Formats: sequence, C-alpha cells, structure tokens
Amino acid sequence: MTRPTVALVDLNAIVDNFLLAQSLSAEGQCVAVVKANAYGHGLVAVAKALAKVAPVLAVARIDEAKLLRAAAIATPILLLEGALDDAELQCAAQLQCWLVIENENQLEAISRVELVRPVKAWLKLDTGMHRLGLPVQRALAAHDILSASANVEGDVVIMTHLASADEPDTDSNHQQSSVFLEAVKTLNRPLSIANSAALLAMPRARAQWNRPGYMLYGGNPLSSASNNTPGLKCAMTFKSRVISLRTIEVGERVGYSGSWCAQRRSVIATVAAGYGDGYPRGARNGTPVLVRGQRAFLAGTVSMDMISVDVSDLPDIAIGDEVILWGDGLSVDEVAQCAGTIGYELLAGMPARTPRQYIELGSSE
Ligand SMILES: Cc1ncc(COP(=O)(O)O)c(C=O)c1O
Repeated sequence: MTRPTVALVDLNAIVDNFLLAQSLSAEGQCVAVVKANAYGHGLVAVAKALAKVAPVLAVARIDEAKLLRAAAIATPILLLEGALDDAELQCAAQLQCWLVIENENQLEAISRVELVRPVKAWLKLDTGMHRLGLPVQRALAAHDILSASANVEGDVVIMTHLASADEPDTDSNHQQSSVFLEAVKTLNRPLSIANSAALLAMPRARAQWNRPGYMLYGGNPLSSASNNTPGLKCAMTFKSRVISLRTIEVGERVGYSGSWCAQRRSVIATVAAGYGDGYPRGARNGTPVLVRGQRAFLAGTVSMDMISVDVSDLPDIAIGDEVILWGDGLSVDEVAQCAGTIGYELLAGMPARTPRQYIELGSSE
C-alpha cells in the first residue's frame, strides 16, 4: 500500500470555480484569494493555476507574497492587511504588491516613506465590522492623501468587508453596504465589497472588484447550506484507506474513552487519518465518511493518526478500501458542521504532514 492519506487537489476545479465567480459579476473583476496556503490546498501550485485566469491574487502576509514571487509568479498580489511596518512596506513595493491601507499608521507611512517604486493602494473603510479599516468619516481625506502621494499609482480602490456575508439577509449587511456607498459616492473610484458569500448571494455587493476565496475551492460560504454549492466544483478530496477491520459484540466500546458503544454486533473499520492529518478531533460520533463511495459513520473519538468507522451496513469492506473524509459527495462543510466548526478552518488547518497531490490543468487524474 502506498502512503494512504493524501489531499488530492484538482486545479481544474479551482480554475473553473474562479471563472464561475468571475461570471457572477459581469462588470467587475475578481481577485483570487490564496492566503493561508490557498486555504490549505497548497499556495504555489494553486496560485500558478489561478494566475492563468485571475488578474490579481490576494494574500494576508508578506511572507506569502515572497513565496509567490520566489516561484516566479508575476501576477499582482494584494496584501489584504497591508504592510505592518516600514520594512514590510518597502518589501511590498519591491515585490510589486498592491497594498491595503486600513489604519492611520499605514496612511502616515505610505505618505512618509520613499518607496523604491509606487504601489497600487486599496483604501479600506470600517463600515461596521470593527476589525480593520479607517472610519468612513476619513474616506475623503484618506483618499486625497493617497491620490496625492508619489508612492501611489493609478486609481485608489475603495474597499470594505462585511461581517455577516454568510447570512445574506442579515440587516447589518444592508447597513454596511449603505454606509459604504454613501461614504464613497462623491469619489467615483473603483469599489470592492464582496467576498465569496456576498458575490454568490448579494448582487448589491458586487462591484468593480470582488474578492472570492472559499468558493474557489468549492466550499459553500453560506451558513445555511451544508452541501457543495451548485455549479462549484469540490477541489480537495481528503482520502485514506481502511488499515484494519474487526467485529465487536453488543456493549463493546471503541477508541479513547470508549465514547462509542456497539448497540448491535458491529464491524469497525480503522482508517489511517486522524487529527494529525487534518481530520477534526471534534468530529462527533455519526459524522459521515465515504467508504468505497458509500456513507458510513464515525464511531468513537478521533485519534492522532486514525479514526474508527462503523461499516456494519456496508457489504464486503476490506483492508485497503478507499475512504473519503471529504470531497465529492461529502462536503467539507458537512463534516465541519459535525465537528462544530466551519469548512474554512478544516481546509486552512490541513497540516503539511498530509501530502498534497495535484490533478494538473488539462488532465483528469
Ligand atoms: C478582506 C477579505 N476579502 C476577501 C476574503 C475572502 O473571503 P471568502 O473566503 O469568504 O471568500 C477574506 C477572507 O477572510 C478577507 O479577509
């Protein structure tokens, strides 16, 4: 048996999902968000694929931008939290990054420092999330400072971020959008509001620039749904194999602390994937997995390297059978729900221990 536990990443699915995102906003363009190791899918491989279709990539940290440039990716890179100090600011300019300016320190720094080359600036306004962004009352003045700076080239893009885009009907989304549009209405500059959820479900939030991340990987960013979103293709198949099998009697228990107790004579398959491989330790008894394509259910506490699965209802399970922890037919969002978390956390938390294998562009496995 070759190493059984892998994350198989379909780069074609990611590119197709980007094209779908792009098609949702005919007038706007999309920045492809690849932070956090491309949501666990592998930064460089994913960015190389997306660079074929996306005009801009977005990351959270300067180190991520460095990795992209070291891999000879020349696409503009938007730094979503901006530069954290003068050294990063200069480095970002050298790397030809686009910079979010979201607080007074950053505004002051970009006005003061002499950059090796001018950068494109995205002015971020805080319209109610209170995490990043200048107050909306500063919009006009901050815009004027940036526009007048020799360090800034081209039109300043004005952006904001919605706190509850995953629940599109929430009042706060409408409030934030209204506050934003009111604050920038005299500026006549390109705007950016939407992440994946807003792009999918809030037409009003679509603008000249949109910033999809999670949907590029096939996840459903809307909190109401647990299935893969229609039209989006699942990019990661997290899979392993059955490595041991046993039959246990009524009343016998499985795994650490014996949290699962057989109510009938049961066949238990041990699968080589645990929390050390990226499977959530919080997954409850009954969390689905696909064994040879059919649903079976987690039985007992997740171990570091293994889980136990009740396969009593599946015929002829054997050692070596393929097990899908999430992928096509079992969304990461559904597994996350069973673990009391969100798919974002499971994907972004995929450890290096689990090898990423790629279906390259133009091939089908
Ligand atoms: C400012 C900003 N824009 C866009 C995104 C992408 O969000 P999503 O992955 O929900 O599409 C993020 C992600 O956290 C973000 O912080």
